[in-house]
Amino acid sequence: MKTILVTGGAGFIGSHLCDVLVKQGNYVICLDNFFTGRKENIKHLLDYDNFEIIRHDIIDPIKLEVDEIYNLACPASPVHYQYNAIKTLKTSILGTMNMLGLAKRVKAKILQASTSEVYGDPQIHPQPETYRGNVNPIGPRACYDEGKRAAETLCFDYHRQHNVDIRVIRIFNTYGPNMQINDGRVVSNFIVQALKNEDITVYGDGKQTRSFCYVSDLVRGMVDFMNQDKHLGPINLGNDGEFTILELAEKVIKLTNSKSKIVFKPLPEDDPLQRKPDLTLARKLIHYEPTIPLEEGLIKTIEYFKKRLYA
Ligand SMILES: NC(=O)c1ccc[n+]([C@@H]2O[C@H](COP(=O)([O-])OP(=O)(O)OC[C@H]3O[C@@H](n4cnc5c(N)ncnc54)[C@H](O)[C@@H]3O)[C@@H](O)[C@H]2O)c1
Repeated sequence: MKTILVTGGAGFIGSHLCDVLVKQGNYVICLDNFFTGRKENIKHLLDYDNFEIIRHDIIDPIKLEVDEIYNLACPASPVHYQYNAIKTLKTSILGTMNMLGLAKRVKAKILQASTSEVYGDPQIHPQPETYRGNVNPIGPRACYDEGKRAAETLCFDYHRQHNVDIRVIRIFNTYGPNMQINDGRVVSNFIVQALKNEDITVYGDGKQTRSFCYVSDLVRGMVDFMNQDKHLGPINLGNDGEFTILELAEKVIKLTNSKSKIVFKPLPEDDPLQRKPDLTLARKLIHYEPTIPLEEGLIKTIEYFKKRLYA
């Protein structure tokens, strides 16, 4: 039985990952400071003997005996990561350094949850892992984008200098149950607005595109990538189906039978116009294939938000 630490384990993606790892029979330690995570996301796992929770902030070092670390701790939505930008940088840099230090000490394998945001506003489409990005280092998103870039650097330096066994994944827009109601990301925003029959806010003209990955597809890719030994990463994970924001809004309105109207607002600073993963490497290396189409994923996510809002 492997002992696996999941930082940010009470968050959206972390809670699904804990679920899969516990059910595979691993001993899972979920570590979280509950900034954006919720106990409810992992409450059902407390009945399992092979699951425990630690309230801790990864900015501070921690000593644990573990075989693997999935480092997910970091607020991921702009509202939350901009709330305290310096803290976000500390989480990505000091926090990742602490987790790499732990991995070094106990010889654990560590997977870093990086992001498509390292590509910034990309000038290449879709983005392969070799693309070095177009990030504004002083803009309002930089605390997250540059923090995650520095975290990737730290991973590769710990590997080069201390031979730490790293894996780096770049996650593209992922959605599903356990997202926060006030998360501020586009899928949750649209669903909550549609369920409340409020106006749906589209920034810009809505023609900017995004790819949307259902969380179970992502988590399968994460675990498969952790468990292979051919490549350290970085590797893109997500879904390469591409939709405009306007198409997403229309789908959500249809699937919720909502009376919401679409309203347009100015595009925020540094908002990328196109974002779609090049999944060639993931397909080749771990036979990764997203399986949940957007409508199916939206239906499951809408059910979740209905319960959160009305149960
Ligand atoms: N959801 C996406 O589309 C997406 C895309 C790219 C990358 N990611 C990355 O995946 C990871 C998980 O994202 P998510 O969508 O589940 O976000 P989330 O906000 O739901 O989860 C982050 C979790 O980390 C915890 N946390 C934050 N700072 C911490 C700290 N200093 N110490 C301990 N715990 C801390 C939060 O309380 C929360 O439970 C993040 O690292 C994020 O950057 C997510």
